[in-house]
Amino acid sequence: MSSGFDPRLVQRLRHARRVVALTGAGISAASGIPTFRDAQTGLWARFRPEELATPEAFRRDPRLVWDWYEWRRGLVADAEPNAGHRALARLEGLVPDFLLVTQNVDGLHQRAGSRAIVELHGNIHRNKCFAEGTVVAERLDTGERPPRCPRCGAHLRPDVVWFGETLPAQALAEADTAARGCDVLLSIGTSAAVFPAAQLPVTALQSGAMVVEVNKDPTPLSAVATFSLLGRAGELLPRLLEATWPD
Ligand code: OAD
Repeated sequence: MSSGFDPRLVQRLRHARRVVALTGAGISAASGIPTFRDAQTGLWARFRPEELATPEAFRRDPRLVWDWYEWRRGLVADAEPNAGHRALARLEGLVPDFLLVTQNVDGLHQRAGSRAIVELHGNIHRNKCFAEGTVVAERLDTGERPPRCPRCGAHLRPDVVWFGETLPAQALAEADTAARGCDVLLSIGTSAAVFPAAQLPVTALQSGAMVVEVNKDPTPLSAVATFSLLGRAGELLPRLLEATWPD
């Protein structure tokens, strides 16, 4: 019986040695974590990023920003990885050289069992000192929100990338190297609108890789990707693995 996937896609994936998966908020949607740019339900349809996700916003109203991230941490704490996360964890064991590059900060890939991960936009579970920029596990127990850095007394902030900030250099370099050297890049659940992450599939294409998009809606990548699969990651990814490695 036909899997419904183009046989050339399946063949190239099966024989790929180096595979990169780039994920965005769409992979966590089925876990109940809101995306950013979906109309109605996306976070940026309900909140203004410049009030919540910039260093200026934090300077202006640290409690508002802190409390918003606490709310998001609560959503993540109540969430479970879904079939899409689990398929990617399985994929890591099926190809010789696999790297998962995520824009998500929710840690659900790790909870699903993925190990080779590069987090381009940080992780919501970590904090760093707003003054020093260093990751801090402890906090001064003053009962304040945001809490304060135990070393210098400045506010702590979530260790995520905000608008106007640069991505962690090592993470970006690792992702870029992987995109240049891979045979297949899967772009999953991302609007392909935020750079530099959105550059990675283009880099892979220019380096001769097959780029497969798995997304609920078309994006700017859809027209240039080698294959664009429209649908939900939690349904399409398990089917794609099944079609590619049937036993
Ligand atoms: P977006 O919200 O921009 O895009 C999510 C994409 O996932 C959309 O194209 C949806 O159509 C698609 N989608 C939704 N549900 C899906 C599902 N079940 N299966 C497959 N696709 C689905 O999120 P990102 O592309 O991750 O940055 O956004 C990139 C960055 O912009 C985020 O990391 C964040 C945000 O501002 C920072 O906070 C720095």
